[in-house]
Amino acid sequence: MSKLLEFSKVEAGYGPLTVLHGVSLEIHAGERVCLIGRNGVGKSTTLKTIMGLTDRRSGTLSWDGADITRSGTVARSRMGIGYVPQTRDVFPSLSVEENLIAGLRSRPARDVDRAYRLFPRLHERRNNGGAELSGGEQQMLSVARTLLGRPRLLLLDEPLEGLAPIICEELMHAFDTLSREEGVAILFVEQKVQEALQFAQRAVVLDHGAVVHEGPTSELLADPGIVDRHIAVADAPA
Ligand SMILES: Nc1ncnc2c1ncn2[C@@H]1O[C@H](COP(=O)(O)OP(=O)(O)OP(=O)(O)O)[C@@H](O)[C@H]1O
Ligand SMILES: [Mg+2]
Repeated sequence: MSKLLEFSKVEAGYGPLTVLHGVSLEIHAGERVCLIGRNGVGKSTTLKTIMGLTDRRSGTLSWDGADITRSGTVARSRMGIGYVPQTRDVFPSLSVEENLIAGLRSRPARDVDRAYRLFPRLHERRNNGGAELSGGEQQMLSVARTLLGRPRLLLLDEPLEGLAPIICEELMHAFDTLSREEGVAILFVEQKVQEALQFAQRAVVLDHGAVVHEGPTSELLADPGIVDRHIAVADAPA
C-alpha cells in the first residue's frame, strides 16, 4: 500500500495553547484507521491540523509524497482530503438537494446520484429543508457533501455521536461501501470504541496530545486491557 498521508512530529494548537505534542501518524491508500482516546485529548485537533485549521508550531505533513506543510485548507481539500467535522455542517435553510449542490460550480448529476445511492434516506428527503432533518440525516448530508469533492482520504470526526443504533448501522454500511468499493482511505475518530475497532484495520490511541498506542485493531480486540488502560471512559452505551 502506498503512503497517502504522513503526519510527522507535529506540534499544534490554538494561539498560546499547544494541544498536540509531537504526533506522528501515517495513512496508506485505502486504509481504515481509527483514532481513539478520552475527551479532550486532541482527536479533533489532529483532524483539524491535517486540514490546516490549527496553529502548527513544528512538524511536517506530506500527501502522496509531496510536502503540504504550508498548503492552505482549500488546497488540501482539492488534493483529495475530505473532512467531516464534529459539528455536522449543513445549511439549515437549504433543501437536501440544494445543500448537495451549493457553492459548487459544476457538479455532475452522477455524483449527486452516487451520494443518494450511498444514502437512500437523503434521496427520500431530497426536498426537505436542512433544518427539518434528524441528527442522523444531517450527518449523512454532511458526509455526502464532503464526498462530492471525491476525496481519497475521508476524515470523520465522531460520525456516530448521539445517533440511534439503526442510523449508526446505515452510516457504517456507507463507510464500508466507500472503503471496499471505492478504495477511499478513512481516518475515523470515535468514542464508540467497539464500532471503531470493528471497522478499522489499525488503531491509534491518543492521550494528552500524544500517541500512546498504535497497532492492528485485532490486538486491541483481543486484549481489552489495552483500551481500558488508555481510555478509562471506554465504550459508554449508546
Ligand atoms: N478552537 C479552540 N480554541 C482553543 N482551544 C481549543 C479549541 N478547540 C479545542 N480546544 C482545546 O484543545 C483540547 C483538545 O480538544 P479536541 O477538540 O481536540 O479534543 P477531542 O479529543 O476531540 O475531544 P472530544 O472527545 O471531546 O471531542 C481541549 O483542551 C480543548 O479545550
Ligand atoms: Mg472531538
